[in-house]
Amino acid sequence: MHFRVRTLNSISPRGLERLPRDHYELGDTIDRPDAILVRSADMHALDIPATVIAVGRAGAGTNNIPVSLLTQRGVPVFTAPGANANAVKELVLAGLFLGARHIGPALDFVRSLDFAGDVLDAAVEAGKKRFIGHELPGRTLGVVGLGAIGVEVANAAHLLGMHVLGYDPQITVQRAWQLSSGVEQALSLDDLFARSNAVTVHVPLTDGTRGLVSAKRLELMPEGGTVLNFARAAIVDESAVVAALHAGRLGAYVCDFPSAVTRGVAGVVALPHLGASTSEAEENCAMMVADTLRDFLEHGNIRHSVNFPEAALPRVPATSRIAIANSNVPNMVGQISTRLADAGLNIADLLNKSKGEVAYTLVDIDGKVPAGLVERIASIQGVLGARAV
Ligand SMILES: NC(=O)c1ccc[n+]([C@@H]2O[C@H](COP(=O)([O-])OP(=O)(O)OC[C@H]3O[C@@H](n4cnc5c(N)ncnc54)[C@H](O)[C@@H]3O)[C@@H](O)[C@H]2O)c1
Repeated sequence: MHFRVRTLNSISPRGLERLPRDHYELGDTIDRPDAILVRSADMHALDIPATVIAVGRAGAGTNNIPVSLLTQRGVPVFTAPGANANAVKELVLAGLFLGARHIGPALDFVRSLDFAGDVLDAAVEAGKKRFIGHELPGRTLGVVGLGAIGVEVANAAHLLGMHVLGYDPQITVQRAWQLSSGVEQALSLDDLFARSNAVTVHVPLTDGTRGLVSAKRLELMPEGGTVLNFARAAIVDESAVVAALHAGRLGAYVCDFPSAVTRGVAGVVALPHLGASTSEAEENCAMMVADTLRDFLEHGNIRHSVNFPEAALPRVPATSRIAIANSNVPNMVGQISTRLADAGLNIADLLNKSKGEVAYTLVDIDGKVPAGLVERIASIQGVLGARAV
């Protein structure tokens, strides 16, 4: 067992340590690589070698990766969903305090005080009345989107003593298990806005979520509330937010996305997209994607892939495994089984999963994979790639 992995960016050493050097050759000049590890390097113009059977992105998005091209080649693209969730959660909590205690304008006020001694003390005492804030316990936080980040935010806010409402019609079983039982389910988005002093959004930007925080929903909120946006700028209608701040209906807009529309508006606290910017988040992403890549290369298991289905089987002694990527069309499993039967092999276990246009099959057979079998399976029309693992 020996794999060659080309790195297109510097990947956190803690991630690379997960690929032991006795089995993995790593570096940015590796030729004929089995896999590519990438962070933000643009792969669209890259001539991806035909030897590549997997791409791992130490991060969440895949804008820099030609996913459809790789899917057509039968190459899974792995990401590290949730590896930065704690980093984002901590900044959202900071955002809640920033909004509740007017910390942004209070700092601006202090910076403007060009005095010393008694004059400074007097100016501080006179000015601080403008920044009387509120405490969090007893207030209601609405969390829109209960994925990796939303669940962490909801649980932490509950522990801070807030009443937490959550809304996510597509919450996964895994996230539902992680969610504190103290978090109340909102009946609808409008219900959540109508009952929340602060609303935080943790949904992806899609056609369905663009402008989700709209003028209409801001009007539903109790007066003086806070909107937090550490997801994507366009999920919030910024013009509506500015209008609500000017009208005094909204108390604060705390976000990770500076923009010309909100710049300089009283009540806006904009951070320079710092959500995932911690050394730990970078390390977590690298470790997670290295682990998933290794499980794929060594066992054919697929987890956290953006273009392939989740597919994992435990290894059983005295069996061998063939991993097959194929088009999601009828009779693929039938043809694969026929090739195995023709070779007189017994199937010990078989898993077939599909996602969109591709399917993935893991077949465990008793004994060893005979010579020529993988090539015979690879020659079936519709098979994108096959290998013994
Ligand atoms: N500020 C940053 O630096 C930073 C860092 C990481 C992620 N993000 C953003 O945060 C978003 C959430 O990240 P995540 O890791 O929690 O993603 P995730 O995929 O784990 O969770 C997203 C959740 O949103 C839910 N959802 C989708 N549409 C919805 C809707 N209309 N109403 C309610 N729920 C809906 C989904 O069911 C899912 O559970 C990402 O899409 C990304 O845009 C920002």
